[in-house]
Amino acid sequence: MDSMAQRPDRDSQIFIIGCGISGIGAAQKLIKHGFHNVRIIEATARSGGRIRTGRLGDNIIEIGANWIHGPSKENPVFRLACDYQLLDKESMSEENQAIDIGGHPLFVPNWFTSSGRKLGPETMGPALEFFMTLLERSQQFHSTGGEPLPSVGEFIKAEAERLAPEEWKEDRDNFAVRMAMINTLLKLECCVSGTHTMDDVGLGAFGMYTTLPGLDCTFPGGYEGLTDHMMKELPRDIVLYNKPVKCIHWNYTKNGPNTGGTSFPVTIECVNGETFAADHVIVTVPLGYMKKHQNTFLSPSFPLHKLHSIQRMGFGTNNKIFVEFEQPFWDEDCELIYLVWEDETHLTDVVSDLKMSWIRKLTGFTVLKPTERFGHVLCGWIAGQESEYMESLSELEVLQTVTQLLRIFTGNPTIMPRKLLRSQWFHEPYSCGSYSYVAKGCSGYDIDNLAEPLPLKGSNSKPLQVLFAGEATHRSFFSTVHGALLSGWREAERLISHHTSASGSFSSKL
Ligand SMILES: Cc1cc2nc3c(=O)[nH]c(=O)nc-3n(C[C@H](O)[C@H](O)[C@H](O)COP(=O)(O)OP(=O)(O)OC[C@H]3O[C@@H](n4cnc5c(N)ncnc54)[C@H](O)[C@@H]3O)c2cc1C
Ligand SMILES: *[C@@H]1O[C@H](CO)[C@@H](O)[C@H](O)[C@H]1NC(C)=O
Repeated sequence: MDSMAQRPDRDSQIFIIGCGISGIGAAQKLIKHGFHNVRIIEATARSGGRIRTGRLGDNIIEIGANWIHGPSKENPVFRLACDYQLLDKESMSEENQAIDIGGHPLFVPNWFTSSGRKLGPETMGPALEFFMTLLERSQQFHSTGGEPLPSVGEFIKAEAERLAPEEWKEDRDNFAVRMAMINTLLKLECCVSGTHTMDDVGLGAFGMYTTLPGLDCTFPGGYEGLTDHMMKELPRDIVLYNKPVKCIHWNYTKNGPNTGGTSFPVTIECVNGETFAADHVIVTVPLGYMKKHQNTFLSPSFPLHKLHSIQRMGFGTNNKIFVEFEQPFWDEDCELIYLVWEDETHLTDVVSDLKMSWIRKLTGFTVLKPTERFGHVLCGWIAGQESEYMESLSELEVLQTVTQLLRIFTGNPTIMPRKLLRSQWFHEPYSCGSYSYVAKGCSGYDIDNLAEPLPLKGSNSKPLQVLFAGEATHRSFFSTVHGALLSGWREAERLISHHTSASGSFSSKL
């Protein structure tokens, strides 16, 4: 008897919505534990989701995720990448794993300003250090409690205005350009958080995001190698591609035609009219998609506290603009280029006129390395509404505006990028933006609410009908690939332990 009660109920019909890394991870774990009725339903024609490798000429570039953040033993993405031998030796070295950068890699910088000046570290270094200190202080309220101001942006701006005059009193000449540099850094921080303005990012919860040790590294052959390898370990036909899900009917509210006489609690309705009956569904669609379709995606709809957390939590746009040059205008060792608008001496990271001034939001370019492999390619970063507006322009318009920008900042009127390619995450119908952040007024409880399965605890309906994974449901690693993967594993484990515990559906079926 006992051994029978311990037997996993491997026949359960489980559907996973979305074939990004969280969905793939969930499927992998379930199948390893003997569940054989597992399918993934994916809206698009490909797997990988926001992990997407592309090409710029002969170069491999990342349209979506680029780095393994914190590549060390504790990071499951790093462990998998090592197992699959997708990283170079240096990235795997004990030395690199031990480096703790606290989430902000120390790139070798170059600074260019809107008057065509190239400034040195004597002038700009202090502004960078000053900003980093304020950023670190912003992260501390999570552990100390309290919140002197509601958002990271308001806190940094208030503290910068209060402390900078004292901090830089020996160097009045550079005061204005350093304040402008704080604006540049605020705009770049919007890219890191995937938000329009740092005024939208909650101060008290900012430190909830946790970093792992390890020097951020990339995949020489492309990030998609990771999801491709994981897919190879799954049964061949596990994914149903090109099937956007329209609505998940749960709580026995609908019975599709293919339920074969058995009563299933959940029916998945696709946009093309097809339906699938399920015992359990793991939803991994991006939070942006969930926000946009919050009134139609689930029937009966979300319980109010869950709906409110979906509405309150942040999900914004961060895009990349890749530009290739014949010759570099930056130093050989440069890893990050900052653009500083000398007229922006008042602290504000919001651009008022999108049409005329969206380009002011593009204040940072990383240099793709190593140069021997990439040639001279920059990756520009732009977040928020300006980024969403940029997506609506033609590639040629973007190229012209970026060219104009770089001519102003380098003082070289002949600079001409050879090629350009940009991402358009806001207009991707199944992403609706880039990634999540903890918005003003939110806390870890909102993330818990997003992750909470349905029906809610205490209901006497069949448990674990709809489960929720995906990047936005991870309390400390939201917005990352490893957070997404861990969330998929978490929901798979929830089902596994449910079916292996004595109170699971095996006994309730008797
Ligand atoms: C520009 C950019 C840069 C990034 N950089 C990094 C980085 O350097 N390092 C890092 O760790 N992370 C980075 N990230 C974040 C990382 O890519 C994501 O956190 C992670 O890939 C999310 O995985 P997921 O499985 O949660 O979601 P997704 O990968 O988005 O998967 C969800 C899947 O659901 C599908 N779907 C959506 N709606 C439906 C529907 N109705 N029916 C069926 N299927 C549907 C989608 O098509 C998608 O395939 C970046 C993201 C972006 C956009
Ligand atoms: C689910 O069904 C049960 C039993 O019929 C009912 O009591 C409950 O209110 C339903 N829940 C929702 C969210 O509709």
